[in-house]
Amino acid sequence: MIRHFLRDDDLTPAEQSTVLDLAARMKADRFAYTPLAGPRSVAVLFDKQSLRTRISFDAGIAELGGHPLVVDTQVTHFGRGESLADAGRVLSRYVAAIVLRTHGDDRIAEVASHATVPVVNALTDGYHPCQLLADLLTVREHCGGTRGRTLAYVGDAANNLSHSYLLAGATAGMHVRVAGPAGFQPDPDVVARAEKIALGTGGSVRALVDPVEAVRGADVVATDTWTSMGQEDDGLDRITPFLPYQVNDALLAHAAADVIVLHCLPAHRGEEITDEVLDGPRSAVFDQAENRLHAQKALLTYLLEASA
Ligand code: CP
Ligand code: NVA
Repeated sequence: MIRHFLRDDDLTPAEQSTVLDLAARMKADRFAYTPLAGPRSVAVLFDKQSLRTRISFDAGIAELGGHPLVVDTQVTHFGRGESLADAGRVLSRYVAAIVLRTHGDDRIAEVASHATVPVVNALTDGYHPCQLLADLLTVREHCGGTRGRTLAYVGDAANNLSHSYLLAGATAGMHVRVAGPAGFQPDPDVVARAEKIALGTGGSVRALVDPVEAVRGADVVATDTWTSMGQEDDGLDRITPFLPYQVNDALLAHAAADVIVLHCLPAHRGEEITDEVLDGPRSAVFDQAENRLHAQKALLTYLLEASA
C-alpha cells in the first residue's frame, strides 16, 4: 500500500517514533544513508512561498543520493486548470515521491488520490506535519523525550501549526495546550481527533483562550505568525486580539524554569515573539529549523520503504 503523509496522524505513534529515531541517526551520521541512490527523483512543488521547506527538501533529497526537482507551480499548468488527479498520475510515472505545499487540503488529497508514489504535505492551510516532525525531534533533544512533556502553542490557534501541534503532539504522548483569541480557535474535529489519539498515548489536549493558563508550567512554548500565507487580505484584525499572546519574558515567567521556545519561522519579530526570546537562551528555534532537514530525510526514507 502506498503511504502518504498528508496529516500528522497518518503516522501511528509507533511509526512517528520510528521516523524520529531514524532522523536522530541520520543527523548523527549525515551522509551515511543513500536510499535514493540511482539517483531516484523526488518532485517538490510549491503553490506558496518557502525558504526552509524548499531548501531542506532540496538538500535532503540530494544527501539521500536522489535528484530533487523543485518547482514553483506558477510555471506549470496548476494555475490554469490541469486536474490535480492527473498531475498525481503523471508525476508518479517520473518520480519516487511527490512533496507539495499548497492551499486547501482538498488539493493535496486530490493529488494523493491518484498518485502511485508517496505524497508528502509540505504545508497546507490545514496542517504542517513535516514541521512537527522537526519540532518533536527538537523536543526530544532538549527535553530528553516527548512523552508526558507539556507543550503550549499560543497565537492563531485556528491555523495549520495549531492543528499539527494538536495531532502530532498527542501522537507523541505530550500534553498539548493551544490558546488563541475567540474566533481563532482550532477546528473542533481536529481537537476531537487529537483527544482520541491522546487516549492511546497517555497525552492530553486542551483548547484554551487564556495564554497564561496554556503556558503555566509548560516545558515547551511554541508560536507562529498571526497572519499565515493567504490570509494577508482576509479583512480580520490580526494584531489587536493577539497582543496578549506574544511570547515574551513576561509570558514565559509562567512556564517551567527550563522551558524551551519553538517558532517554525519566518518570525514577525516584535509581533508574536520578541527579539529577546527568539535570540535568547531558551530559544531552540535554530535547532528546530535545522531539524527540518534530518526529519524529512527520515520521513522520505520511511515512506518509500513502507510503500515498497
Ligand atoms: N517553517 C517553514 O515551513 O518555513 P518556510 O515557509 O520558509 O518553508
Ligand atoms: N502558519 C504559517 C506557517 C509558515 C511556515 C503559514 O501558513 O504561513
